[in-house]
Amino acid sequence: MNAPAGSLLSADQLRKAYGPTVALDGAAFSIHSGEVVAVMGPSGSGKSTLLHCLAGIVPPDSGSITYDGRELATMSDAERSALRRSDFGFVFQFGQLVPELTCVENVALPLRLNGTSRKQAERAALGWMERLEVDDLKGKRPGEVSGGQGQRVAVARALVTEPRVLFADEPTGALDSLNGERVMVLLTDAARSTNAAVVLVTHEARVAAYSDREIVVRDGRSRDMERAV
Ligand SMILES: Nc1ncnc2c1ncn2[C@@H]1O[C@H](COP(=O)(O)OP(=O)(O)O)[C@@H](O)[C@H]1O
Ligand SMILES: [Mg+2]
Repeated sequence: MNAPAGSLLSADQLRKAYGPTVALDGAAFSIHSGEVVAVMGPSGSGKSTLLHCLAGIVPPDSGSITYDGRELATMSDAERSALRRSDFGFVFQFGQLVPELTCVENVALPLRLNGTSRKQAERAALGWMERLEVDDLKGKRPGEVSGGQGQRVAVARALVTEPRVLFADEPTGALDSLNGERVMVLLTDAARSTNAAVVLVTHEARVAAYSDREIVVRDGRSRDMERAV
């Protein structure tokens, strides 16, 4: 049950059922700072459930999750949500940008919610938009940009607080392969530059190829995958 040495986030013996459906059945996971770990597996195998448990969004029925030396289950809901705001960033399949806000306002939003002034938040947001090569879209609304551009804006928003863990669930799932690759290159470069750990859920081998290590989830159980190099 001990966390592997040096790991930032780890889990062991995770079990989660939704009524009769067993989503996780003894899954284990670990990641250290600066590492990109791909969570692979077919649709319905439990990848998103694993991500939601690791991020403290969904409580597992049993098993342990340790982040930075603390067991998530011992924290209150308020402590877990504060942790998500301060230490975690999220990118989902569809950017889930706020349609009424401009792109720069979307990227600045997590900082604004943490109490940063508008001017400072938007300056930081623009810096991240430059790194994701979407700074020219700052005044546009999400409805006016392409899918690939919107995902790069979503990645900038996820990184603007400089999270220690970036959770990405099928971040390129709605993109064509060219745009998907661009998002992955920029996402992994940006995350590596801040030494963030990246939990990358995908069912696509060409997306997983951007990771340092792969684990495969099948029927709610995980195992390390040997990569043929
Ligand atoms: N909120 C939920 N309510 C009921 N069943 C769920 C819920 N979330 C996931 N499941 C079920 O749990 C299993 C694993 O789902 P999920 O973790 O989303 O898999 P994946 O992300 O690999 O496609 C599936 O059978 C799915 O239908
Ligand atoms: Mg999923």
